[in-house]
Amino acid sequence: MSTISPRIIGAPINRIDGPAKVTGSATYAFEHQVDHPVYLYPLQATIVHGWITSIDTSAVSSMPGVLDVLTYENAPKLVTTTERPELLILQSNAVAHRNQLIGAVIAETPEIARYAASLIRFDYEEQPHDVDFHAARADLRPPQQVPVRTEYQAKQEDIDAALAAAAVTVDATYTTPRHYHSPMEPHSNIAIWADNKLTLYCSTQGVHWARQRITHLFGLDMQQVRVISPHVGGGFGSKLFPLPDMVLAIMAAQLLEGRPVKFALTRQQMFSLAGYRSPTIQHVRLGASPDGRLTALYHDAIVQCGKIMEFAENCIRATPVMYATPLWRTTQLVADLDVPAASMMRGPGEAPGMFALESAIDEMAIACGLDPIEFRIRNELEAELSSRLPFSSRHLITCLREGARLFGWETHDPVPRNRRVQGWLIGTGVASSVYHMLRFPGNVAKIHASTDGHYTVSIGASDIGTGTWTTLTQIAADTLEVSFEDVTLQIGDTDLPVASLAGASAGMNTWGTAVVEAARKFRELLLSDYGGRIPDGGLEVTAEMPANPYLQQVAMFSFGAQFAEVWVHEDTGEIRVPRLLGMFDIGRIINAQTVRSQLLGGMTMGLSMALHENGVFDPQFGHTVTQDLATYHIASSADVGSIEAHWVGEEDLYFNPMGSKGAGEIGIVGTAAAIANAAYNATGIRVRDLPLTLDKFLR
Ligand code: MOS
Repeated sequence: MSTISPRIIGAPINRIDGPAKVTGSATYAFEHQVDHPVYLYPLQATIVHGWITSIDTSAVSSMPGVLDVLTYENAPKLVTTTERPELLILQSNAVAHRNQLIGAVIAETPEIARYAASLIRFDYEEQPHDVDFHAARADLRPPQQVPVRTEYQAKQEDIDAALAAAAVTVDATYTTPRHYHSPMEPHSNIAIWADNKLTLYCSTQGVHWARQRITHLFGLDMQQVRVISPHVGGGFGSKLFPLPDMVLAIMAAQLLEGRPVKFALTRQQMFSLAGYRSPTIQHVRLGASPDGRLTALYHDAIVQCGKIMEFAENCIRATPVMYATPLWRTTQLVADLDVPAASMMRGPGEAPGMFALESAIDEMAIACGLDPIEFRIRNELEAELSSRLPFSSRHLITCLREGARLFGWETHDPVPRNRRVQGWLIGTGVASSVYHMLRFPGNVAKIHASTDGHYTVSIGASDIGTGTWTTLTQIAADTLEVSFEDVTLQIGDTDLPVASLAGASAGMNTWGTAVVEAARKFRELLLSDYGGRIPDGGLEVTAEMPANPYLQQVAMFSFGAQFAEVWVHEDTGEIRVPRLLGMFDIGRIINAQTVRSQLLGGMTMGLSMALHENGVFDPQFGHTVTQDLATYHIASSADVGSIEAHWVGEEDLYFNPMGSKGAGEIGIVGTAAAIANAAYNATGIRVRDLPLTLDKFLR
């Protein structure tokens, strides 16, 4: 292992794309200048399950400005794939869920397209539908992919026996509702099919992954497809993979050969066409000795999948990562329903999973008569339970202790309803956070130096608002041992070397490792062959990210501790969170400013998850009725009081050569539990079902 001398890494450098963004000149997907565009408006199924029996387009067939109507009757045939079957739209008359894409109107203006779409009539043969998500379903099944390694798990009967024999027990069920990603920039596409080639401007977390799936689906060669996405206005998981909207835009472009097709989802369509986090039902059972040491830990999660495609929210992944216990077991079941495919969203797995686990741990600490921080320290884990590997780095106790000091935990009163100001009950709460770390394969970086000493670093990475433009430039400059201004970064285009996603908190860790590898090779070559002088005509080096040699030796996770102060009004149940503080173990910091923004954003999402977010589902019509930001509440500025994000700053050189760990998603993990725990401390009322709305505090 060797380190990079951190001259620029860690500095709070302003975003280099900042001026372009605040002046409106940064080009988002829908804003690219194209000649003579046409506009697409989607048609969505108005039944939940059944078949289209007839389509009547006569009202628009001679309407001025309408260019074409796309349905399964004239849609291009896709290559059948098991990879992401939700993408196989318009291939038959079957309807798999309400609001499924069943067609499109393409017109000269967006207004004509939208109006014409309202005049097209579909008749259906409706079948009974099944959309009820509950724990008593007889047809719950294990997911195809085993969510947690099983070799060291206890048998159910051994867990049951240990729980029956335990001096102190907690047995509780926690639920979380449907969550919607709601990035500020909606899913948007401009698709151009010309000369047997596709150019796609889109809002994506990974141009190369998008291209790979599109080429498979449309039976094209890689050389036929270029995906361009320099700026992305938030993703949160909904833009990890192409969704059906992208497929529809490409189909329309093929139909209207030569004319660029523009298609952006409306905010309302974002709630039916852009994925969601599954609701969860989680059963946690804990056993402990009288002195507060866990003897058994059981966590069962039930989630939903669309029948159309399995994605099972991995709520139990973090459970074997947190606490020492001689016996543990996790189980997961899924319900297959006539609903859209669930998807990854903001800390997938850990965000809902740790709400349940960290609420239960709080309940157990209280049952043992211990301070919740002391309880966590007493049950600190040496080696990860499912792999039995030691941790590459784990500063969780430092996060808990140092976070407690910064938060002022000494004011915590373990007795509920003991702190009161003018009708408000005041409580404080804590929860741990964790996020698994991975580096995606398939990453190549290219470095070109011109004779005048300027460097161009190219990799098909993405910046979804997190700061990649700046942070990857910092990593390149430090590794090349040149100044920040001497490096120009190129990202967001499949014409650049292959790169993986901005997702799973793995973006910077993955791309950064590829850039470091290329920079090292560049410097070696420059010294060995050119005596350290860039030759006339410049010098170029391309390198692939090496595999991590420590994968089988250590378990790699980011950690953190979240603290919340909560006020609940005694008469109205109204809940306020004036103060959040997070202390994180996320390795070496690449950019103190952009990482703070990511953590604050994550914690705000956690606050939002705790207090507001709730996709209300109508079982009769089979869709989510909260289809806009007026009814699907997200935390706004008025909901946010003081938020502080701090970090330990210890590097982890097992994970990548920068010494950093994943920081993108851990901010959201644990926040909701810290708030629920603080709300219990304030009121004595334990709310186990998110969100923590005021009715739940009125008894
Ligand atoms: Mo994240 S849900 O992997 O974009």
